[in-house]
Amino acid sequence: MSNQKAKAPLTPPLSPGDAGGEGAQRADLLARLDVRTSERAQASLLRRARTMDHADGPWLEIDGHRLLGFCSNDYLGLAQHPQLIAAFKRVADDEGVGSTAAHLVCGHRREHAMLEEALAEWTGRERAMLFSTGYAANLGALQALLGGVEGAICVQDKLNHACLIDGARLAGAELKRYPHADVDGAARQLRSRPQAPAMLATDGVFSMDGDVAPLRELAALARSEGATLMVDDAHGLGVLGEHGAGSVAAAGLSAHEVPVLMATLGKALGCAGAFVAGSAALIEGLTQFARPYVYSTALPPALAAAALAAVQIARADDARRAKLAVLIARFRRGAGELGLPLMRSDTPIQPLLLGDADAALTAALRLETQGLLVTAIRPPTVPTGQARLRITLSAAHEEEHVDRLLDALATLRLPAAG
Ligand SMILES: Cc1ncc(COP(=O)(O)O)c(C=O)c1O
Repeated sequence: MSNQKAKAPLTPPLSPGDAGGEGAQRADLLARLDVRTSERAQASLLRRARTMDHADGPWLEIDGHRLLGFCSNDYLGLAQHPQLIAAFKRVADDEGVGSTAAHLVCGHRREHAMLEEALAEWTGRERAMLFSTGYAANLGALQALLGGVEGAICVQDKLNHACLIDGARLAGAELKRYPHADVDGAARQLRSRPQAPAMLATDGVFSMDGDVAPLRELAALARSEGATLMVDDAHGLGVLGEHGAGSVAAAGLSAHEVPVLMATLGKALGCAGAFVAGSAALIEGLTQFARPYVYSTALPPALAAAALAAVQIARADDARRAKLAVLIARFRRGAGELGLPLMRSDTPIQPLLLGDADAALTAALRLETQGLLVTAIRPPTVPTGQARLRITLSAAHEEEHVDRLLDALATLRLPAAG
């Protein structure tokens, strides 16, 4: 999910006393939440989790229907890889399920240590530190680096993921956003506060758009402005760069140029969890000050073992990336021929921009009647007027799957590319 700021509710907050109670003059928080939820529903923007009964590669079973999914982030098709499953089972058999404690207590197991080493080596950093989710990793890194720093600013792309935005807020830094991928805009924000300690943070690949950040230009800007550059490569790791080392590697940037690198294990690596990689000093500092690391239970060791198997495959198996590239090219060619509203993306995230939230929802429903599962992404996850079908491709797909998707899209009479 991305990050657009939730709009202020149309209905004003309940006034004090609405909660009733014995003389207390407070707004009723639960009632207020109900009001906000109803407003979402009225705007056709309600979010709802659907229960998938079974997953089989890209196929999903829901309510007795078997659907071909184009919405997972399992870009390399590793989530059900036999080597990951075997590693998971082996360590679960030997070590049980839970890690039983935070890393700094007794939760840090051999499997975590081995995974951290492999991630550091893959990304060309001195060290890496695991977090239980990407959300926690970003909160932890930003809070450790910016928290309590007098007058600090955090300059971010407008389309950065929600957890980068939240991390800056939680750290108490002044958040300054620039228009998407606009390096001059980033420069203006940095130069508006030339003396302020500054972090420049960007997604490597934008989660709802699929395009890659102008990383080389941002690195040059960070250098000239004395800002610290942080890249969230959740959607780039495993997919981009030599041996899948990610968008930062693909841009040819060193650990010095991008001193804070974060990526997740739940997307191309098919597992769950995340890490921050950087210098030994950075990781030492995070060990002291990153609260989501210090105060949270370590990932299950079996999951760390599965992720290590995933790293080994993702590094070595260029054929998966080559297959993915063929599928992406086939989809883009076909969608272009159909005049579909493709966005500028060469990654497995291939959104079709429909604009209207109802139009996106209707398109997703109609695809589902044809046996395809594609998620409609609506505000506030994306800006108002930019609802879309977020189509994602995976090495688990076959070319005929892409053709089937294109055939179904052709029947929808979507708005033409602008
Ligand atoms: C760019 C980006 N960063 C961070 C996250 C959060 O990662 P996680 O799902 O592991 O919390 C996500 C994904 O959901 C993401 O898309």
